[in-house]
Amino acid sequence: MKINNICCIGAGYVGGPTMSVIAQKNPHINVTVVDINENRISLWNSDDLSKLPIYEPGLDKVISEARGRNLFFSTDIDKHINNSEMIFISVNTPTKTYGDGKGMAADLRYVELCSRKIAQVAKNDKIVVEKSTLPVKTAAAIKNILTETGSGVKFNILSNPEFLAEGTAMRDLEIPDRVLIGGEQDDDGKKAIQSLVDIYSSWVPKENILTTNLWSSELSKLTANAFLAQRISSINSLSELCEMTGADIDEVSKAIGMDTRIGSKFLKSSVGFGGSCFQKDILNLVYIAKSLGLNEVADYWHQVIIMNNHQKQRFSKNILKSLYNTVAGKKITFLGWSFKKDTNDTRESAAIYVADMLLDEKALISVYDPKVSEKQIISDIKNIRNNNKDDSINDLSIQKNPYEACKDSHAIAILTEWDEFINYDWSKIFKNMNKPAFIFDGRNILDKKKLESIGFIYKGIGKH
Ligand code: NAD
Ligand code: UGA
Repeated sequence: MKINNICCIGAGYVGGPTMSVIAQKNPHINVTVVDINENRISLWNSDDLSKLPIYEPGLDKVISEARGRNLFFSTDIDKHINNSEMIFISVNTPTKTYGDGKGMAADLRYVELCSRKIAQVAKNDKIVVEKSTLPVKTAAAIKNILTETGSGVKFNILSNPEFLAEGTAMRDLEIPDRVLIGGEQDDDGKKAIQSLVDIYSSWVPKENILTTNLWSSELSKLTANAFLAQRISSINSLSELCEMTGADIDEVSKAIGMDTRIGSKFLKSSVGFGGSCFQKDILNLVYIAKSLGLNEVADYWHQVIIMNNHQKQRFSKNILKSLYNTVAGKKITFLGWSFKKDTNDTRESAAIYVADMLLDEKALISVYDPKVSEKQIISDIKNIRNNNKDDSINDLSIQKNPYEACKDSHAIAILTEWDEFINYDWSKIFKNMNKPAFIFDGRNILDKKKLESIGFIYKGIGKH
């Protein structure tokens, strides 16, 4: 099928950047990203590119090149579904918070709503592409809804999961390790796969475009995330061992990673992984395995989450223990709130959990993050403490200046690895703190020796 028009449902962290690059690289195809969230769409359309709804280095450049030429953002969902030959579903698939599978399974209601909407609106044949991360076999459910509720038009379903990481999304999209496209293996399915291969071929070398059956594609996405997260939990489990034995986690990580069979990436010990996907995708994998009666498989992967929660708790407890077992009334400064550097995304950020635990201990928390808005931080802390009837959220304040944030505090906790933290005038910060002044480096980015020579008590992850 010749593709002249693409519609993507969901203008989030995936839909926005992915479609911007597809449009940039395929100027002959009109790409429209639609969303029910009017505010989000108006921010995508704003003239001031600093107001785009997500912060991602390099995104503004691509938007300014393609937007208005062949890239559009709209709330007119019906019109653009109808006008397009290919429709991407890129809506959120969070962990279910209710009913069967609560706390484990993926909530597929938004995906189902999209499928019903496409079925209701489509007047001619469409290729429907799963861009969201979905449980294996979801394509069968989508196909069922489309064919049972549609008005007789033909639908082909493809799975094209996204592997971009936030903060490096534009580079990941520009030079992906691979593009994965799963589809049905009959003639129509193969033609649909080819239509999408053609779109990616505008900039991705053919050998990096991998085509598979639908189920392999769906399952590969969930399990790729599980593998990545597993490496972080593995190295984090060793960080505790390092602290007990005098080994240094960065040295151990380097030594392990230099084995080319293991590789050096994703072996950076931290306060714990965050982000909207690792936890939800592993929980979903655990749920699928359990549903199929594969209890050992489920337990194996569940351990990755258990380890991650332990790491976040361990970090908080270490602060408490080091500050003489009481932080009540003490000011503790958080440098960083986003779940990693170069993004304003805070979903599942370790900072939120550490703050929650320290607020339980009646600490006074002062937060500085270069990109996360005050509104977002307040909403995160309110969400996590919504069952807490006291007014302890008032014990958390937000500062726009890092030096102000650190003034009079007893301890600084590095929660995100923002580059700018490395270049601060740490002597100046030290002078204005309560003594003894502690630094808990949850990302191991600061220079231990230098800080200790200034007078700080430095505590890194997996450091002695
Ligand atoms: P997001 O929450 O940022 O964006 C989803 C958007 O979909 C929201 O703007 C929401 O308003 C919109 N939406 C929901 N239901 C809708 C409907 N019925 N009609 C129209 N719009 C609707 O989510 P995201 O981070 O972009 O993730 C989307 C999917 O991609 C998830 O399945 C996620 O697992 C996967 N994924 C995310 C990343 C990432 O880095 N964030 C990377 C790879 C894959
Ligand atoms: C991750 C995957 O890397 C992407 O391939 C995937 O597409 C995406 O999830 C998704 O499906 O949403 P993302 O969560 O954006 O991307 O960012 P990562 O770079 O993977 O970092 C995740 C978390 O792990 C962050 O909190 C980061 O600080 C932490 N991390 C990462 C470590 O603690 N140590 C490491 O060595 C690497």
